[in-house]
Amino acid sequence: MQRRLKIGVLYSRLRVEEKWIFGAMEKRGVDYERLDDRQIYFDLSDASYWKSFDAMLERSISYTNGLYALRILNAFGVPTVNTAQVAEICGDKLMTSAALVRAGVPQPRSAVAFSPESALEIIEMFGYPVVLKPVVGSWGRLLAKINDRDAAEAVLEHKFTLGSVQHSVFYIQEYIEKPGRDIRAIVIGDRVIGAMYRKSDHWITNTARGGQGELCPITSEIEDLCLQAAQAVGGGVLGVDLIEHPERGYLVNEINHTVEFHTLQPVSGIDIADAIVTYVMRVACEGQVAPGAAIQSAV
Ligand SMILES: Nc1ncnc2c1ncn2[C@@H]1O[C@H](COP(=O)(O)OP(=O)(O)O)[C@@H](O)[C@H]1O
Ligand SMILES: [Mg+2]
Repeated sequence: MQRRLKIGVLYSRLRVEEKWIFGAMEKRGVDYERLDDRQIYFDLSDASYWKSFDAMLERSISYTNGLYALRILNAFGVPTVNTAQVAEICGDKLMTSAALVRAGVPQPRSAVAFSPESALEIIEMFGYPVVLKPVVGSWGRLLAKINDRDAAEAVLEHKFTLGSVQHSVFYIQEYIEKPGRDIRAIVIGDRVIGAMYRKSDHWITNTARGGQGELCPITSEIEDLCLQAAQAVGGGVLGVDLIEHPERGYLVNEINHTVEFHTLQPVSGIDIADAIVTYVMRVACEGQVAPGAAIQSAV
């Protein structure tokens, strides 16, 4: 008789998404284990426990914890959703931008600088307004829309003096005059399974900041762009965020590797949790491992 596949779910907090995912696992009778990232450890000299999993779904809230866990798991040869390589790219806005540039996927004009002086130089070249973002961050936190030189000087000085090391990497974008909304689409494998508008009176449209979800039809243009974007970062279960530019059309703003879907699932009526479980089971069957997991032989 064939052995039953065993799945692990690494999480930090039981958000509604994790509850739905666990529910979908149970409904299908999947053999799975819940792993709280605050309670686990990895003994690098003994991979046996971790190797008992056919696949691991990573849902950590902490980018750092999730990424390190994925790196170790991939090194042990455990297939993960997503791979460490994908998490590394998507968790860092600059790495995402670089991957999109390489793949020729349209995105807002973006720049990086390493000192307040050179940041100011490129900001003046872009023209106001510009958006300054931490390279690692989410939920619309610490984003700054800068409307003039005075504000630019102040924000750059504050970031440089008061921020952590990470805040002295200045990630700068042109501000896009979008139509009071952006688009969140979820890609699973080679399919865009759902999309919604996030509408807000504020320029930051994250649902965590009060943005309201509304169903967005998946046109072939949206579908093609989202699949291209997902492929550019390595693919998997991904939240692709699009911004509509008044002349240039859809631009890829960011790609999330531990995507939230508390609003998209009810708005679309699509069982996203179940689709994620289907994908994880496929990865478990196919034994897919990150292409970058080269240290496998060392453990
Ligand atoms: N360059 C930009 N122009 C206009 N709006 C933007 C721009 N960048 C981000 N936004 C708005 O801010 C929101 C959060 O930005 P994002 O880069 O996705 O950061 P986070 O990772 O915190 O979600 C986006 O969903 C969008 O509504
Ligand atoms: Mg975002």
